[in-house]
Amino acid sequence: MKYIDLRSDTVTLPTREMREAMASAVCGDDVYVDDPTVKQLEELAAKMCGKEAAIFMPSGTMANQAAIMTFCKRGDEIILGRRAHIAAYEAGAAAVLAGVSYALIDKPDEIITAKDVAENVRGEDVHFPDTGLLCLENALGSGRVLSLEQMKAAYDEAKRHGLPVYLDGARIFNAAVHLGASAAEIAQYCDALMFCISKGLAAPIGSLLCGTKDFIARARRNRKILGGGMRQAGILAAAGLVSLEVMTKRLHIDHENADYLAAELAKIPGISVDDTRRDINLVFFAIESEGFDHENFPAAMAEKGVKINGAVKGVYRFVTHNDIGREDIDYVLTLVGDYIIMEG
Ligand SMILES: Cc1ncc(COP(=O)(O)O)c(C=O)c1O
Repeated sequence: MKYIDLRSDTVTLPTREMREAMASAVCGDDVYVDDPTVKQLEELAAKMCGKEAAIFMPSGTMANQAAIMTFCKRGDEIILGRRAHIAAYEAGAAAVLAGVSYALIDKPDEIITAKDVAENVRGEDVHFPDTGLLCLENALGSGRVLSLEQMKAAYDEAKRHGLPVYLDGARIFNAAVHLGASAAEIAQYCDALMFCISKGLAAPIGSLLCGTKDFIARARRNRKILGGGMRQAGILAAAGLVSLEVMTKRLHIDHENADYLAAELAKIPGISVDDTRRDINLVFFAIESEGFDHENFPAAMAEKGVKINGAVKGVYRFVTHNDIGREDIDYVLTLVGDYIIMEG
């Protein structure tokens, strides 16, 4: 059965062009740093992000963790948002692997301001950990995008305190579409960043960590420590080249589809769409219809060929991506509307 899968943009399947590129990829051994396709992908990633160098990583989580290990010494504290992926969804890895603790900024809009940075940088005191790093995220997992001004303000303040800035840019190309800016314009406000090719860019596996040549050389050693040294990774990098050269140019379609989905969902009685975080391909909404069977909703949708996640604290998240077209959305809207009438 072919499913319409709205759970995440990580579910995107490799495109035909990717599969063909993978089949004919020229490979070497990336641990010997001689896989030509990996090198090509790393060079392109660095160029698109305005950085000197890049390294191919198996996952966004590993790229984030290798970056923190490279920037920080054990015992440092890092400043980041309470709901940032690094803080909330990486199983506490930064504490386990890099030995850092977290100064968590807890704000409803998740925007880290210059004031937040200033208030959380530690002074000289034998009781305090050293502040080692500011971590920003853009686009935010909440569906919001930080403006260039917001990024600059946090970056400038960090620099005033001599602090490096890292960007978890898993969806930086979605942020770029929303801002009408390039990835490099966003990345000018960080010293290093990671982005994923395995999400809306449809590659099967992988993320790129980008920064200075020296930083990437040190991150390469940390990738080795984490067991992320891959061999004939050119097979995967070939798909990544299609992600960067082709798929970045179509992301706006996912945003338009998400706008359409949000607008049409909002017309269904009982549904309230969260318009405050509608910047990219993520749509958050609540179903407030009385008697609605939240528990059975995902299973009922799956029976009709639609995969969704259950609500988190009463909020559903539908994600548009390369494998979701307008007709799929229309089908989903009809199903949701019918289910609310039936169950509500
Ligand atoms: C903002 C953000 N950072 C990092 C990651 C981690 O990526 P991966 O699943 O490849 O480890 C994700 C994954 O969803 C993410 O949304």
